[in-house]
Amino acid sequence: MKIYQFLFSLFVMTFFSAASASDIDAMIGHCNDCHGNNGVSQWSDVPTIAGIDAFGHADALLMFRENERPCSESKYRQGDTSRAATTMCAVTADLSDDDIEALADAYSELPFVPAVQKFDAALAATGAAVHEMHCAKCHSDGGSNVEDEASILAGQWACYLENEFASYLSGDRVQDKKMEESLAALSAEEVKALVHYYASQQ
Ligand code: HEC
Ligand code: HEC
Repeated sequence: MKIYQFLFSLFVMTFFSAASASDIDAMIGHCNDCHGNNGVSQWSDVPTIAGIDAFGHADALLMFRENERPCSESKYRQGDTSRAATTMCAVTADLSDDDIEALADAYSELPFVPAVQKFDAALAATGAAVHEMHCAKCHSDGGSNVEDEASILAGQWACYLENEFASYLSGDRVQDKKMEESLAALSAEEVKALVHYYASQQ
């Protein structure tokens, strides 16, 4: 390659990587209009997405994009709130694999902040025991260990978790066979106790 060709390709590379970094910033701004500043949600039906491991986060976005995970309609919580309500499936529909990877990486670098929320201490204690017995194998450290690549349960919003449990139990959200069996074996009371246990970790 001639030197001017080399310099030209260097210029093109620099130009495009700079442009794509600002695209990612714009996308993150869009996500944060529902998920909260720095991906920390103030709204109990929207999960905090800061700090989730990049692999698990990317996987969740791919599932939404392929309509393999149910997505509910949600309004915008901040920014231009006159925008029409939308869904995670619509939000991810036009994202490329590279966009998804960049978004997942960016959020994985941010600190997860547990939600400040009410919980019942007795139910939380029951939930802790249920968790240890049925879930800790894959969701270690009370569901806070990002190395498990299984999202973050500890300190996540209870309302969001309740919705996800309902979605798993109805069969709308498909799950790994082993987790499906663990969940199916639980009573409604035990599932409720789990939600209080995750909410209690603040
Ligand atoms: C209009 C509001 C809205 C926008 C915009 C939005 N989300 Fe969501 N997101 C939600 C809601 C609500 C859920 C909960 C699942 C559901 O109800 O569909 C969710 C769920 C998720 C989850 C699942 C979390 C988990 O632990 O499994 C991830 C990851 C996520 N969103 C990432 C993003 C990213 C990245 C963007 C920007 C590209 C984004 N969201 C934009 C509302 C939104
Ligand atoms: C065999 C391993 C395994 C077991 C056992 C397991 N899980 Fe999971 N769980 C996963 C993986 C992996 C994910 C993330 C991938 C996905 O969403 O499909 C996940 C995701 C979840 C999510 C969704 C988090 C989110 O925000 O999207 C919830 C809630 C959950 N698990 C709860 C539980 C509970 C409660 C138990 C015990 C009754 C349990 N899991 C048992 C592996 C497991």
